[in-house]
Amino acid sequence: EKGGYDHFMIKEIFEQPRSIADSMRGRLIASEGHLQLGGLENYMNKLAQADRIVIVACGTSWHAGLVAEYLFEELARINVEVEYASEFRYRNPVIGENDVVIAISQSGETADTLAAIELAKSKGATIFGVCNVVGSSIARATHAGAYTHAGPEIGVASTKAFTAQVTVLTQMAIAVARRKGALTEDTYRQLLIELETIPTKVQQVFEYADKIKEIAFIFTYARNFIYLGRGLNFPVALEGALKLKEISYIHAEGYPAAEMKHGPIALIDEDMPVVFLATKDGSYDKIVSNIQEVKARKGRVIAIITQGDTRIPGMVDFVIEVPQVHELLTPLVSVIPLQLLSYYIAVMRGRNVDQPRNLAKSVTVE
Ligand code: F6R
Repeated sequence: EKGGYDHFMIKEIFEQPRSIADSMRGRLIASEGHLQLGGLENYMNKLAQADRIVIVACGTSWHAGLVAEYLFEELARINVEVEYASEFRYRNPVIGENDVVIAISQSGETADTLAAIELAKSKGATIFGVCNVVGSSIARATHAGAYTHAGPEIGVASTKAFTAQVTVLTQMAIAVARRKGALTEDTYRQLLIELETIPTKVQQVFEYADKIKEIAFIFTYARNFIYLGRGLNFPVALEGALKLKEISYIHAEGYPAAEMKHGPIALIDEDMPVVFLATKDGSYDKIVSNIQEVKARKGRVIAIITQGDTRIPGMVDFVIEVPQVHELLTPLVSVIPLQLLSYYIAVMRGRNVDQPRNLAKSVTVE
Protein backbone atom coordinates (compact mmCIF):
# COMPACT_ATOMS: atom_id res chain seq x y z
CA GLU A 1 0.00 0.00 0.00
CA LYS A 2 3.08 2.22 -0.06
CA GLY A 3 2.68 2.19 -3.84
CA GLY A 4 6.26 1.10 -4.47
CA TYR A 5 7.80 3.69 -2.15
CA ASP A 6 10.00 2.81 0.84
CA HIS A 7 7.94 4.84 3.26
CA PHE A 8 4.53 6.44 3.56
CA MET A 9 6.17 9.78 4.14
CA ILE A 10 7.87 9.92 0.75
CA LYS A 11 4.74 8.58 -0.95
CA GLU A 12 2.75 11.35 0.72
CA ILE A 13 5.31 14.02 -0.20
CA PHE A 14 5.12 12.95 -3.84
CA GLU A 15 1.32 12.85 -3.69
CA GLN A 16 1.10 16.57 -3.07
CA PRO A 17 0.36 17.71 -6.62
CA ARG A 18 -2.75 15.55 -6.41
CA SER A 19 -3.71 16.26 -2.80
CA ILE A 20 -3.40 20.01 -3.36
CA ALA A 21 -5.59 19.68 -6.46
CA ASP A 22 -8.07 17.61 -4.43
CA SER A 23 -8.32 20.38 -1.86
CA MET A 24 -9.47 22.72 -4.64
CA ARG A 25 -11.65 20.25 -6.53
CA GLY A 26 -15.22 21.47 -7.00
CA ARG A 27 -14.32 24.64 -5.14
CA LEU A 28 -12.16 26.59 -7.50
CA ILE A 29 -12.54 26.99 -11.26
CA ALA A 30 -10.24 29.81 -12.28
CA SER A 31 -11.51 30.11 -15.86
CA GLU A 32 -14.98 30.85 -14.53
CA GLY A 33 -13.84 33.03 -11.66
CA HIS A 34 -15.53 30.50 -9.40
CA LEU A 35 -14.52 29.97 -5.79
CA GLN A 36 -16.91 28.50 -3.28
CA LEU A 37 -16.36 26.50 -0.13
CA GLY A 38 -19.69 24.72 0.28
CA GLY A 39 -19.49 24.14 4.02
CA LEU A 40 -18.84 27.81 4.70
CA GLU A 41 -21.40 29.33 2.37
CA ASN A 42 -23.96 30.12 5.09
CA TYR A 43 -21.27 31.73 7.22
CA MET A 44 -19.48 33.88 4.64
CA ASN A 45 -21.04 37.10 5.94
CA LYS A 46 -20.08 36.22 9.48
CA LEU A 47 -16.49 35.73 8.35
CA ALA A 48 -16.46 38.86 6.22
CA GLN A 49 -17.79 40.94 9.13
CA ALA A 50 -15.46 39.49 11.73
CA ASP A 51 -13.30 42.03 13.56
CA ARG A 52 -10.94 39.32 14.56
CA ILE A 53 -10.18 35.71 13.72
CA VAL A 54 -8.55 33.47 16.30
CA ILE A 55 -6.81 30.41 14.91
CA VAL A 56 -6.19 27.48 17.26
CA ALA A 57 -4.05 24.47 16.41
CA CYS A 58 -0.96 22.46 17.39
CA GLY A 59 2.28 21.53 15.67
CA THR A 60 2.33 21.57 11.90
CA SER A 61 -1.32 22.67 11.82
CA TRP A 62 -0.29 25.69 13.91
CA HIS A 63 2.28 26.52 11.23
CA ALA A 64 -0.49 26.42 8.62
CA GLY A 65 -2.31 28.85 10.91
CA LEU A 66 0.63 31.26 10.80
CA VAL A 67 0.50 31.19 7.02
CA ALA A 68 -3.24 31.87 7.17
CA GLU A 69 -2.68 34.83 9.50
CA TYR A 70 -0.59 36.50 6.86
CA LEU A 71 -3.13 35.76 4.10
CA PHE A 72 -6.26 36.88 5.98
CA GLU A 73 -4.54 40.08 7.08
CA GLU A 74 -3.08 40.84 3.67
CA LEU A 75 -6.09 39.94 1.52
CA ALA A 76 -9.11 40.43 3.76
CA ARG A 77 -7.66 42.99 6.19
CA ILE A 78 -8.97 41.05 9.19
CA ASN A 79 -6.93 40.97 12.37
CA VAL A 80 -5.80 37.40 13.09
CA GLU A 81 -4.29 35.80 16.16
CA VAL A 82 -2.76 32.37 16.00
CA GLU A 83 -2.76 30.44 19.24
CA TYR A 84 -1.29 27.19 20.44
CA ALA A 85 -4.48 25.40 21.47
CA SER A 86 -2.82 24.23 24.70
CA GLU A 87 -2.01 27.80 25.78
CA PHE A 88 -5.29 29.30 24.65
CA ARG A 89 -7.41 26.86 26.61
CA TYR A 90 -5.75 27.49 29.96
CA ARG A 91 -5.46 31.25 29.71
CA ASN A 92 -8.98 32.52 30.36
CA PRO A 93 -8.87 34.05 26.86
CA VAL A 94 -10.84 37.14 25.94
CA ILE A 95 -13.29 35.74 23.44
CA GLY A 96 -16.98 36.23 22.75
CA GLU A 97 -19.88 36.25 20.33
CA ASN A 98 -18.23 38.52 17.82
CA ASP A 99 -15.22 36.32 17.45
CA VAL A 100 -14.61 33.76 14.78
CA VAL A 101 -12.38 30.83 15.59
CA ILE A 102 -10.73 28.62 13.00
CA ALA A 103 -9.48 25.29 14.33
CA ILE A 104 -6.99 23.47 12.13
CA SER A 105 -6.35 19.77 12.60
CA GLN A 106 -5.31 16.95 10.33
CA SER A 107 -6.57 14.16 12.57
CA GLY A 108 -9.49 16.10 14.01
CA GLU A 109 -8.77 14.35 17.32
CA THR A 110 -6.11 16.53 18.97
CA ALA A 111 -7.16 16.89 22.61
CA ASP A 112 -5.92 20.44 23.16
CA THR A 113 -7.48 21.72 19.94
CA LEU A 114 -10.80 20.08 20.78
CA ALA A 115 -10.75 21.60 24.27
CA ALA A 116 -9.93 25.05 22.85
CA ILE A 117 -12.96 24.74 20.56
CA GLU A 118 -15.27 23.75 23.41
CA LEU A 119 -14.05 26.70 25.47
CA ALA A 120 -14.52 29.22 22.64
CA LYS A 121 -17.93 27.72 21.89
CA SER A 122 -19.03 28.08 25.50
CA LYS A 123 -18.22 31.80 25.25
CA GLY A 124 -20.42 32.16 22.17
CA ALA A 125 -17.80 32.31 19.41
CA THR A 126 -18.46 30.87 15.95
CA ILE A 127 -16.12 27.98 15.20
CA PHE A 128 -14.90 26.77 11.81
CA GLY A 129 -12.92 23.61 11.30
CA VAL A 130 -10.25 22.83 8.75
CA CYS A 131 -9.83 19.08 9.21
CA ASN A 132 -8.59 16.23 7.10
CA VAL A 133 -10.36 13.30 8.73
CA VAL A 134 -14.03 13.29 7.78
CA GLY A 135 -16.41 12.90 10.72
CA SER A 136 -13.62 13.39 13.29
CA SER A 137 -14.34 14.83 16.75
CA ILE A 138 -13.16 18.33 15.82
CA ALA A 139 -15.14 18.31 12.58
CA ARG A 140 -18.24 17.41 14.59
CA ALA A 141 -17.59 19.98 17.32
CA THR A 142 -17.43 22.96 14.94
CA HIS A 143 -20.33 25.01 13.54
CA ALA A 144 -19.08 24.71 9.97
CA GLY A 145 -15.92 23.99 8.10
CA ALA A 146 -14.05 22.84 5.06
CA TYR A 147 -12.34 19.49 4.77
CA THR A 148 -8.84 19.42 3.35
CA HIS A 149 -9.45 16.23 1.30
CA ALA A 150 -5.75 15.30 1.33
CA GLY A 151 -6.60 11.61 1.74
CA PRO A 152 -5.33 9.46 4.60
CA GLU A 153 -1.98 10.59 5.96
CA ILE A 154 -0.14 7.62 7.45
CA GLY A 155 3.36 8.99 8.02
CA VAL A 156 3.50 10.53 11.47
CA ALA A 157 5.26 13.63 10.14
CA SER A 158 2.64 15.74 8.45
CA THR A 159 3.37 16.69 4.83
CA LYS A 160 0.45 16.57 2.41
CA ALA A 161 -1.97 17.54 5.17
CA PHE A 162 -0.02 20.77 5.70
CA THR A 163 -0.11 21.82 2.05
CA ALA A 164 -3.80 20.93 1.84
CA GLN A 165 -4.50 23.02 4.96
CA VAL A 166 -2.66 25.96 3.46
CA THR A 167 -4.55 25.53 0.18
CA VAL A 168 -7.93 25.49 1.94
CA LEU A 169 -7.04 28.45 4.15
CA THR A 170 -5.83 30.37 1.10
CA GLN A 171 -9.14 29.72 -0.63
CA MET A 172 -10.95 30.88 2.51
CA ALA A 173 -8.91 34.08 2.70
CA ILE A 174 -9.54 34.86 -0.97
CA ALA A 175 -13.27 34.11 -0.69
CA VAL A 176 -13.65 36.25 2.43
CA ALA A 177 -11.64 39.08 0.91
CA ARG A 178 -13.87 38.98 -2.14
CA ARG A 179 -17.03 38.98 -0.02
CA LYS A 180 -15.69 42.01 1.81
CA GLY A 181 -15.02 43.77 -1.46
CA ALA A 182 -11.35 43.97 -0.49
CA LEU A 183 -10.09 42.58 -3.82
CA THR A 184 -10.29 44.03 -7.32
CA GLU A 185 -11.75 41.67 -9.91
CA ASP A 186 -8.32 41.47 -11.54
CA THR A 187 -6.50 40.52 -8.36
CA TYR A 188 -9.20 37.98 -7.52
CA ARG A 189 -9.01 36.33 -10.95
CA GLN A 190 -5.22 36.39 -10.88
CA LEU A 191 -5.08 34.67 -7.50
CA LEU A 192 -7.41 31.90 -8.69
CA ILE A 193 -5.33 31.32 -11.80
CA GLU A 194 -2.12 31.23 -9.79
CA LEU A 195 -3.57 28.89 -7.17
CA GLU A 196 -4.71 26.49 -9.87
CA THR A 197 -1.13 26.21 -11.20
CA ILE A 198 0.32 25.19 -7.83
CA PRO A 199 0.06 21.39 -8.33
CA THR A 200 2.14 21.71 -11.51
CA LYS A 201 4.67 23.93 -9.74
CA VAL A 202 4.99 21.46 -6.86
CA GLN A 203 5.60 18.70 -9.40
CA GLN A 204 8.48 20.75 -10.80
CA VAL A 205 10.17 20.88 -7.38
CA PHE A 206 10.50 17.09 -7.48
CA GLU A 207 12.99 17.45 -10.34
CA TYR A 208 15.45 18.57 -7.67
CA ALA A 209 14.96 15.47 -5.50
CA ASP A 210 18.36 14.00 -6.45
CA LYS A 211 20.11 17.25 -5.72
CA ILE A 212 18.36 17.45 -2.34
CA LYS A 213 19.51 13.88 -1.68
CA GLU A 214 23.12 14.94 -2.33
CA ILE A 215 22.77 17.80 0.12
CA ALA A 216 21.21 15.43 2.66
CA PHE A 217 24.21 13.13 2.24
CA ILE A 218 26.62 15.96 3.02
CA PHE A 219 24.73 17.00 6.16
CA THR A 220 23.61 13.58 7.38
CA TYR A 221 25.59 13.81 10.60
CA ALA A 222 25.10 17.48 11.37
CA ARG A 223 24.15 17.98 15.01
CA ASN A 224 22.16 21.16 14.58
CA PHE A 225 20.34 23.08 11.90
CA ILE A 226 18.93 26.60 11.73
CA TYR A 227 16.08 27.52 9.36
CA LEU A 228 15.46 31.17 8.55
CA GLY A 229 12.73 32.91 6.59
CA ARG A 230 10.77 36.15 6.57
CA GLY A 231 7.10 36.93 5.99
CA LEU A 232 5.22 33.94 4.62
CA ASN A 233 8.44 31.96 4.65
CA PHE A 234 8.84 32.35 8.41
CA PRO A 235 6.23 29.64 9.19
CA VAL A 236 7.90 27.54 6.51
CA ALA A 237 11.20 27.86 8.39
CA LEU A 238 9.45 26.64 11.55
CA GLU A 239 7.91 23.76 9.63
CA GLY A 240 11.23 22.76 8.04
CA ALA A 241 12.88 22.67 11.47
CA LEU A 242 10.02 20.65 12.96
CA LYS A 243 10.16 18.06 10.16
CA LEU A 244 13.90 17.60 10.68
CA LYS A 245 13.59 17.26 14.46
CA GLU A 246 10.73 14.80 14.29
CA ILE A 247 12.15 12.25 11.93
CA SER A 248 15.94 12.61 12.01
CA TYR A 249 16.25 13.62 15.70
CA ILE A 250 18.64 16.41 14.73
CA HIS A 251 18.22 19.53 16.82
CA ALA A 252 16.84 22.28 14.60
CA GLU A 253 15.40 25.72 15.14
CA GLY A 254 13.37 27.95 12.92
CA TYR A 255 13.47 31.71 13.31
CA PRO A 256 12.31 34.81 11.52
CA ALA A 257 15.54 35.74 9.72
CA ALA A 258 15.74 39.18 11.32
CA GLU A 259 15.62 37.68 14.81
CA MET A 260 18.93 35.95 14.14
CA LYS A 261 20.99 38.86 15.35
CA HIS A 262 19.09 38.91 18.63
CA GLY A 263 20.71 35.72 19.81
CA PRO A 264 20.92 32.71 17.50
CA ILE A 265 23.73 34.29 15.47
CA ALA A 266 26.03 33.33 18.35
CA LEU A 267 25.57 29.72 17.24
CA ILE A 268 26.95 30.25 13.76
CA ASP A 269 30.29 28.72 12.94
CA GLU A 270 31.73 26.56 10.17
CA ASP A 271 29.80 23.54 11.48
CA MET A 272 26.37 25.14 11.45
CA PRO A 273 24.10 24.44 8.49
CA VAL A 274 21.66 27.29 7.91
CA VAL A 275 18.71 26.78 5.59
CA PHE A 276 17.48 30.07 4.15
CA LEU A 277 14.07 30.50 2.55
CA ALA A 278 15.23 33.06 0.01
CA THR A 279 12.63 33.13 -2.73
CA LYS A 280 12.07 36.26 -4.82
CA ASP A 281 9.50 38.16 -2.82
CA GLY A 282 9.14 41.42 -0.95
CA SER A 283 11.80 40.49 1.58
CA TYR A 284 14.37 39.23 -0.91
CA ASP A 285 16.93 42.02 -0.36
CA LYS A 286 16.63 41.68 3.39
CA ILE A 287 17.17 37.93 3.19
CA VAL A 288 20.23 38.46 1.01
CA SER A 289 21.75 40.63 3.79
CA ASN A 290 20.93 37.94 6.35
CA ILE A 291 22.71 35.38 4.17
CA GLN A 292 25.77 37.64 4.03
CA GLU A 293 25.74 37.90 7.82
CA VAL A 294 25.78 34.11 8.14
CA LYS A 295 28.45 33.64 5.48
CA ALA A 296 30.64 36.25 7.20
CA ARG A 297 30.62 33.88 10.20
CA LYS A 298 31.40 30.86 8.03
CA GLY A 299 27.99 29.21 8.41
CA ARG A 300 27.16 26.67 5.70
CA VAL A 301 24.20 27.98 3.79
CA ILE A 302 21.61 25.99 1.90
CA ALA A 303 19.28 28.44 0.16
CA ILE A 304 15.85 27.75 -1.27
CA ILE A 305 15.71 30.20 -4.16
CA THR A 306 13.43 31.08 -7.06
CA GLN A 307 14.38 29.52 -10.39
CA GLY A 308 16.53 31.90 -12.40
CA ASP A 309 17.96 33.74 -9.39
CA THR A 310 21.53 34.62 -10.35
CA ARG A 311 22.53 36.51 -7.22
CA ILE A 312 22.28 34.02 -4.37
CA PRO A 313 24.00 30.98 -6.02
CA GLY A 314 27.37 32.77 -5.94
CA MET A 315 27.00 33.60 -2.26
CA VAL A 316 26.05 30.29 -0.67
CA ASP A 317 27.17 26.66 -0.43
CA PHE A 318 24.09 25.02 -1.94
CA VAL A 319 20.94 26.16 -3.67
CA ILE A 320 17.66 24.38 -4.29
CA GLU A 321 15.41 26.05 -6.84
CA VAL A 322 11.65 26.31 -6.71
CA PRO A 323 9.47 27.70 -9.50
CA GLN A 324 8.22 31.27 -9.41
CA VAL A 325 4.71 31.48 -7.96
CA HIS A 326 2.46 34.30 -6.80
CA GLU A 327 4.15 35.75 -3.73
CA LEU A 328 1.23 34.87 -1.44
CA LEU A 329 1.39 31.22 -2.49
CA THR A 330 5.11 30.80 -1.78
CA PRO A 331 4.79 28.41 1.21
CA LEU A 332 3.11 25.79 -0.97
CA VAL A 333 6.28 25.37 -3.00
CA SER A 334 9.02 26.43 -0.59
CA VAL A 335 8.06 23.82 2.02
CA ILE A 336 8.51 20.92 -0.42
CA PRO A 337 12.35 20.87 -0.53
CA LEU A 338 12.40 21.05 3.28
CA GLN A 339 10.15 17.99 3.55
CA LEU A 340 12.46 16.12 1.16
CA LEU A 341 15.63 17.25 2.92
CA SER A 342 14.41 15.99 6.29
CA TYR A 343 13.18 12.75 4.74
CA TYR A 344 16.49 11.94 3.03
CA ILE A 345 18.56 12.86 6.08
CA ALA A 346 16.39 10.64 8.31
CA VAL A 347 16.65 7.73 5.89
CA MET A 348 20.44 8.13 5.67
CA ARG A 349 20.61 8.08 9.46
CA GLY A 350 18.57 4.89 9.50
CA ARG A 351 15.64 6.38 11.38
CA ASN A 352 12.14 4.97 11.52
CA VAL A 353 10.76 7.67 9.26
CA ASP A 354 7.08 6.76 9.34
CA GLN A 355 6.96 6.10 13.08
CA PRO A 356 9.50 8.27 14.85
CA ARG A 357 10.19 7.49 18.49
CA ASN A 358 7.94 9.10 21.10
CA LEU A 359 5.42 10.40 18.55
CA ALA A 360 1.84 9.40 17.77
CA LYS A 361 -0.22 10.32 14.74
CA SER A 362 -3.01 11.77 16.83
CA VAL A 363 -2.38 13.30 20.18
CA THR A 364 -5.61 12.49 22.00
CA VAL A 365 -4.28 13.24 25.47
CA GLU A 366 -3.07 16.66 26.57
C1 F6R B 1 4.05 17.31 12.78
C2 F6R B 1 2.86 16.71 13.32
C3 F6R B 1 2.25 17.27 14.57
C4 F6R B 1 0.79 17.59 14.32
C5 F6R B 1 0.09 18.02 15.59
C6 F6R B 1 -1.34 18.44 15.35
O1 F6R B 1 4.50 16.66 11.65
O2 F6R B 1 2.33 15.81 12.74
O3 F6R B 1 2.94 18.41 15.00
O4 F6R B 1 0.72 18.59 13.34
O5 F6R B 1 0.13 16.99 16.53
O6 F6R B 1 -2.07 17.37 14.83
P1 F6R B 1 -3.45 17.57 14.13
O7 F6R B 1 -3.23 18.39 12.91
O8 F6R B 1 -3.95 16.19 13.83
O9 F6R B 1 -4.34 18.30 15.11
